[in-house]
Amino acid sequence: MTYSLKNKDVLIVGGGSDIAAALAADLLQEGARVTLAGRDAGRTAAAAKAIGDTVRAIALDLSDEESIRAAADQAGTAGGLDHLVSVATERASGPVASLERRALLAAFDAKAVGPILLAKHFAPLIAEGGSLLFFSGLGAWRPAPGGVAMAATNGSVTTLVSALAVELAPTRVNAISPGVITTDAWDTAVPDKQRLFQHVAATTPARRVGRPSDVSSAARALLTNPFITGETLHVDGGGRWA
Ligand SMILES: NC(=O)c1ccc[n+]([C@@H]2O[C@H](COP(=O)([O-])OP(=O)(O)OC[C@H]3O[C@@H](n4cnc5c(N)ncnc54)[C@H](OP(=O)(O)O)[C@@H]3O)[C@@H](O)[C@H]2O)c1
Repeated sequence: MTYSLKNKDVLIVGGGSDIAAALAADLLQEGARVTLAGRDAGRTAAAAKAIGDTVRAIALDLSDEESIRAAADQAGTAGGLDHLVSVATERASGPVASLERRALLAAFDAKAVGPILLAKHFAPLIAEGGSLLFFSGLGAWRPAPGGVAMAATNGSVTTLVSALAVELAPTRVNAISPGVITTDAWDTAVPDKQRLFQHVAATTPARRVGRPSDVSSAARALLTNPFITGETLHVDGGGRWA
């Protein structure tokens, strides 16, 4: 039986990101009801409005359990949820000698502690056939100097989705691990993003950088395939083998 996203309720945490925007727009096209969640209410509302008038916006900070609990209460009152996606990330990049505890904790809040708390408060609200979807990243699979923190946070996502999939069954829990994707995040992450993109395109087996639409397409596959759980899907153009 085909699982359709039509009339399904989907909450996307980290709603201000380009990948969230691409996924939200595609989900709308498929008839889903989409809510974006972000820690800045104004920015999240603006992001929702830019995608469509029917997209809702709520406040949720992954480093604040009370805000997660409040968002879950709201979703429960509204009748539950079909899918919860978190694309959130906090960068903690740089050589080990420069890493600060506060930045490390924020990074783990976004990728590990926050997703576990999302599962704690939202899993009981997920409808039959629904799922949780979290985001890992290529940095866990191709570690580079200066990437220790991001390797650790992204790697933990893969471990936690398989553990959650076992514990929360039959609710499915999966992850996507993007490679280099053309999002605004790169504007501040590297000194010259065009140079990075050219290098990645030349060395990645797919011979280009990724687009938010590549990630959205993979996300919708994971949301709708009833026999995939505990899995990390690599959407990296083969970047692990470059
Ligand atoms: N873009 C790539 O090339 C790439 C590569 C590998 C992996 N990924 C993964 O793919 C996902 C999306 O990437 P992206 O480039 O679109 O990300 P992005 O632009 O950096 O956006 C990250 C989002 O996470 C939100 N966030 C951070 N901490 C949060 C918290 N405590 N509570 C709630 N929201 C929080 C940010 O909110 P604010 O707006 O409030 O800051 C922001 O909207 C991330 O998980 C990233 O690690 C991306």
